[in-house]
Amino acid sequence: MVVAPKMVVGVAVVLVWAMVVMVPEVAATRWTVGTNQGWANNVNYTIWAQDKHFINGDWLFFVYDRNQMNVLEVNKTDYESCNSDHPLHNWTTGAGRDVVPLNVTRNYYFISGKGFCYGGMKLAVHVENPPPPPAASPVKSGSPSIYQNKLVLPALFAISALWDALIHFR
Ligand SMILES: *[C@@H]1O[C@H](CO)[C@@H](O)[C@H](O)[C@H]1NC(C)=O
Ligand SMILES: *[C@@H]1O[C@H](CO)[C@@H](O)[C@H](O)[C@H]1NC(C)=O
Ligand SMILES: *[C@@H]1O[C@H](CO)[C@@H](O)[C@H](O)[C@H]1NC(C)=O
Ligand SMILES: *[C@@H]1O[C@H](CO)[C@@H](O)[C@H](O)[C@H]1NC(C)=O
Repeated sequence: MVVAPKMVVGVAVVLVWAMVVMVPEVAATRWTVGTNQGWANNVNYTIWAQDKHFINGDWLFFVYDRNQMNVLEVNKTDYESCNSDHPLHNWTTGAGRDVVPLNVTRNYYFISGKGFCYGGMKLAVHVENPPPPPAASPVKSGSPSIYQNKLVLPALFAISALWDALIHFR
């Protein structure tokens, strides 16, 4: 079988397209609330959250004792007063491992019901918009400058070398 040059070009085009589209994307973060301590009774979540940047598209991951705690989203008033009577959203699934998408740029407030909020199980996070892509990043579509991309050009060489090797091998 002879590898048609068209196929090589096709593969390269797909590769370039994938890189141009995907390189500027910043990976979303799944934050384990409390890190190693999880969602528990003896953690200060104000301190846990204060050095972190929560970006629209991230997730919070609550890991806890499902027999004791829960995860309730409340408004600011109820966060401050530890009132769990009318949560905005009950994120408790029953497994003790709940994932909450932070998909709106706003403040989120979470507490555990069953009295644990009074012991400090309350978390406020400020969700920010993603930062603009770095100025050097070539995202202008249709611009020939994409061929100057530090990643794309070596990738093109790599793929043509790969196809050369393949053809010679056969
Ligand atoms: C939170 O909800 C309670 C009860 O529905 C309400 O009284 C309170 O004003 C709300 N607070 C905010 C900041 O929306
Ligand atoms: C939250 O949902 C869980 C699972 O459906 C349920 O067992 C629990 O009673 C709910 N808690 C509140 C406070 O609504
Ligand atoms: C955010 O996620 C929640 C839960 O999955 C969903 O109900 C809601 O529609 C989403 N909101 C936006 C703006 O995507
Ligand atoms: C958590 O730490 C902050 C800053 O030190 C403090 O203001 C706050 O009262 C503490 N919260 C709890 C529930 O202990």
